[in-house]
Amino acid sequence: MSKSKFVVPCADRVAQLPPYVFATIFAMKEQALAAGREVIDLGVGNPDGRPSPDVMEALNAAMADESWNCHGYSTFKGLPRLREAIAAWYFERFGVGLDAETETLPLIGSKEGLANLMRAYLNAGDTVIVPTPCYPAYFGAARLCEAEIFEAPLREECGFVLQWRDIPAEVADRARMLILNYPHNPTGGACDLAFYEAAVAWARKHQVMLVSDIAYSELGFDPEQAPPSLLQVPGARDVGVEIQSLSKSHNLAGWRIGFAAGAAEAIGNLGRVKSNVDFSLFGGVQMAAVAALEGDQKVCAGNRELYRKRLVRLASGLSKLGWQVTAPPATMYLWARIPAPWGDDDFAFVRDVFDATGVLLSPGSGFGAHGKGYARASLVIDEARIDHVLGLLEAADLTWK
Ligand SMILES: Cc1ncc(COP(=O)(O)O)c(C=O)c1O
Repeated sequence: MSKSKFVVPCADRVAQLPPYVFATIFAMKEQALAAGREVIDLGVGNPDGRPSPDVMEALNAAMADESWNCHGYSTFKGLPRLREAIAAWYFERFGVGLDAETETLPLIGSKEGLANLMRAYLNAGDTVIVPTPCYPAYFGAARLCEAEIFEAPLREECGFVLQWRDIPAEVADRARMLILNYPHNPTGGACDLAFYEAAVAWARKHQVMLVSDIAYSELGFDPEQAPPSLLQVPGARDVGVEIQSLSKSHNLAGWRIGFAAGAAEAIGNLGRVKSNVDFSLFGGVQMAAVAALEGDQKVCAGNRELYRKRLVRLASGLSKLGWQVTAPPATMYLWARIPAPWGDDDFAFVRDVFDATGVLLSPGSGFGAHGKGYARASLVIDEARIDHVLGLLEAADLTWK
């Protein structure tokens, strides 16, 4: 009897997922590396710095601690010690007092938390407003909920800060969630507290949940004005949840550690989803996160200075090559319009630059409809290497000059 081969089709919601932009550029990189070419990857925002030594010591200490077996399952809600450290950090950094038990929740990276929060709140067919360009993971997470995505435009002339008039009233009224992300990936745009005040008023009016992703809150370049938190607004906790990450601020991207803070009910519902799909984080990583949050934050200050210098170097070099670039007030990215000869075809531009130089950028349309015609460079190489990149771009016979 012959066994016929068969393929079980995956669920429609998975089949319909678009390719993740970073997976696409990663494939380009792999192909080039396999062919023995030099690649300089400015595509993914993967920090090149190292965590603070106390963070690594805390991990080692937890692993060696005989009085507590951190190697077993943790509790669903994460260690109380970490939740207390999160609440203390919020108070120290933003003057916001949180109840550690009900208003904080450790995450296995903020990407996980964002996806599971959407799962907790979005039914199939619900509308989520995603201002774009945006961190592309929002799209996949919303699509996995079979939610409808409304892309509100973020305009360069407004510093990429969401303009409320760009959300039609009927969309606002039917929407269930709005995603905010300041400081902003990919543009580096930043908002002030007045923007969050307006966001809370808007959310109340339209009864929409606010999700504020502050993965880059520690990477603002203005020493006089650190980026604010949504939760600083009185009443924000009734309508909003904030999601934070230690990946970029503390150079812990591979450790997978972030946290959610805000509305107790939403934190509870997020916890309910998570308890069905994961088992919190490795205890050693949680104790390392305690050290990161309670430490001197020098690593964040170091990153701010590092990224600012790299930004200035790259932005001024590209300007000399004829690019139209404006240095943003925060983050670890440079977002720029692609040169005129490519029109709006950012994928073609990224491929041409890559083929000519081995320098890998991210195509703007991978960040949503309103990213079309732009490209993003991550500032994850040192200044000498940035000079090398500028030399390669200048030497390549690309027609932007
Ligand atoms: C805006 C934004 N949010 C969240 C994340 C995910 O961070 P994490 O490593 O905590 O999952 C990223 C990563 O690039 C990001 O840019």
